Amino acid sequence: MLVSLKSLASSMALLPLVVANIQDIQTRDNSIERRFVDPVIAITPTDANFGISAVAPGRFVTSADGTKIFAEARGNPLKPAIVFIHGFGLGAMAFNEIFDDPLWLLQVYLVRYDTRGHGRSDKPTNAAAWVSQRLAEDFDAVRLILRISYPSTPPNYISGIIYDAAVPYMASIFNVGSPAAVATVPGLTTTTNVTQFQAAYIQFINLCHPALEWNFYLACLGDGVVQPRADAQFLFTRTQNSTGLLEAGTSGALPLLAIFGGNDKVVLKQASLDAIAGWKRLNVTTLANAEHFTWIGQQVLFRTTVLDWITLNVV
Ligand SMILES: *[C@@H]1O[C@H](CO)[C@@H](O)[C@H](O)[C@H]1NC(C)=O
Ligand SMILES: *[C@@H]1O[C@H](CO)[C@@H](O)[C@H](O)[C@H]1NC(C)=O
Ligand SMILES: *[C@@H]1O[C@H](CO)[C@@H](O)[C@H](O)[C@H]1NC(C)=O
Repeated sequence: MLVSLKSLASSMALLPLVVANIQDIQTRDNSIERRFVDPVIAITPTDANFGISAVAPGRFVTSADGTKIFAEARGNPLKPAIVFIHGFGLGAMAFNEIFDDPLWLLQVYLVRYDTRGHGRSDKPTNAAAWVSQRLAEDFDAVRLILRISYPSTPPNYISGIIYDAAVPYMASIFNVGSPAAVATVPGLTTTTNVTQFQAAYIQFINLCHPALEWNFYLACLGDGVVQPRADAQFLFTRTQNSTGLLEAGTSGALPLLAIFGGNDKVVLKQASLDAIAGWKRLNVTTLANAEHFTWIGQQVLFRTTVLDWITLNVV
């Protein structure tokens, strides 16, 4: 799931500059594209909040309840900002291919973060930490530290939403999840059977994309292993009030782009659209031959779909 924000930032980027080698590489869809290779990040030694990894352009931001959230941004903060929010059990690293792609940076400011309970962020396991408001505060903490201003006031204080093969809100999760994905849930949340957990996690990542590069595949599994199972449980069971969201859509206040993968084995397209029935300013694009990780199977098409939509409907 992605949320795009129009950036009105007027200050300099807080984040260090990315120093990268540029190389032309062959993409999975057989086109030649320019990519950052092994980016080397100039870090500020005095920045006590700098992230765990010295080679990632990230930092910890502190959410309202004290939870530390790992966030990262690349590009020019004066351009429209897109905040990439990953799905269940993964982390911000899922978007590596996008963040390493300079063609995105020509047009937009890229922001991503490990949502609470994931990746490098804190992983609270008490119920109070999983109240919806806390997750909204995480978004705000990231937004403030990265100097992204809201272009307007509620209900359309973000410029648009991009749902990428998304569960639109919590109440729709078991309708939108495919039977194969839902079947992995007991294994993803078990605290008593290691064999079942291992098999379920491997199955879940394979459903997301059946042919990932080995390192990336291991990173996806790793994001599963660093997560307490109590957090996985909250991710399936926490509640969310979707009234405001749906009002913003049905009133015409907020444009929405819904992207689907033609081969997605995790999310059911029609069920996802049913969950946002009546949304007024809606564009739907299905990427042929794309898996649940749509941007990996069809990275060029994904990029042009998102950037063209932002140009036409948001900026
Ligand atoms: C653990 O899970 C495996 C795989 O799902 C299953 O075959 C096995 O019976 C389970 N063990 C127990 C003790 O429930
Ligand atoms: C959900 O949010 C709406 C406002 O967006 C509010 O009117 C309603 O009372 C809330 N429902 C619950 C159950 O809190
Ligand atoms: C999306 O829908 C809007 C109307 O809501 C339309 O103007 C626009 O051309 C559509 N297509 C794209 C690619 O944004």
